[in-house]
Amino acid sequence: MSWVNSFRTHEDTCRRAPSAHNTQPWVLRYADDAVDVHWDPSRALPGSDPTRRDLFLSLGAFIETCLIVAASAGLPVRPEIAVEDTTLRAARLVPAPSPYDTPFTVGSVQRRRCARGGYAPGLLDPATLTALTAFGADLRQVPARELVAPLAEADRWMFGTPAVVSELRAWMRLSPKHPRYHLDGLTDRAMTLSRIEATGLAALIAPSAYPVTSRLGGPALLAAASKGTLRYDGSVLVLIGSADTPEAVIEHGRALVRVWLALSERGLSVHPLSQLLDCATTAAPLAAQLGLAPDESPLAVFRTGRPLETPTRSARMPATPT
Ligand SMILES: Cc1cc2nc3c(=O)[nH]c(=O)nc-3n(C[C@H](O)[C@H](O)[C@H](O)COP(=O)(O)O)c2cc1C
Repeated sequence: MSWVNSFRTHEDTCRRAPSAHNTQPWVLRYADDAVDVHWDPSRALPGSDPTRRDLFLSLGAFIETCLIVAASAGLPVRPEIAVEDTTLRAARLVPAPSPYDTPFTVGSVQRRRCARGGYAPGLLDPATLTALTAFGADLRQVPARELVAPLAEADRWMFGTPAVVSELRAWMRLSPKHPRYHLDGLTDRAMTLSRIEATGLAALIAPSAYPVTSRLGGPALLAAASKGTLRYDGSVLVLIGSADTPEAVIEHGRALVRVWLALSERGLSVHPLSQLLDCATTAAPLAAQLGLAPDESPLAVFRTGRPLETPTRSARMPATPT
């Protein structure tokens, strides 16, 4: 069997990579001696991610996951990252002299999952923070409580911005009866919503109700529902880097998933809070608070810690059969 065909048998594991809103924007195209990583523009989020930061971070996370999965299978593969907007190609996986050097395995990829419920109190221990720097990520730690007010503001912005809400509506699976519940998007269980909370959220953002509820304080009500998220003695990590080119953001996405896998191997979960970066009035003060240089940007924000409950395994679309 050629390495490409062998790699193809592992595509479902590669698809365990994380992506914003669990849109799984990646598309694999198999050639004789290469595997091309494209993206599906219908799975981008132009409303909440107009700069495509999260799109390219997600593609980077996917490419890194492909390399880990290939290495686990003993397949020597390396990535050539070059974004082509005309063909919607992000990278090409090509033969390499030896398998990708990584401490992670298929097991690490399968075990990792985001956790959005309660976390045990306690800051990330300094030894773990230092160990994470080995994964090529520039991370800054912020105490969770310092971001309580900015998160409330970012949530109000998120639920008050029609284009963002329209994407949430498209990607949230608020009932197990949703036809795509087991395929993609954010389920009520992944978001740790009770049946009543999920029903209330669906009612507030329904297309027929939203024009009215958004004027009558719906966004503030929804933001209030998550105000406890950061009200504990925990750690929020911010990934810093240059977002000059899509290729640079893809490399940061690779580092981001290495960090998430390293945390997961230590029994720690992550809960990304991208709205803090998507909302201009919270992103700028955060960058100022971190004292970033003009060529540095905050690229990802996530709280991390020991989850109080086992996180839900998120849905994935299966690979297309050959
Ligand atoms: C670039 C990026 C941004 C994300 N932003 C958020 C976010 O703002 N809020 C959130 O709850 N999850 C966020 N996530 C997590 C995804 O929703 C999650 O990866 C996806 O639902 C799959 O779940 P899993 O990671 O548990 O497998 C983000 C993930 C990525 C890769």
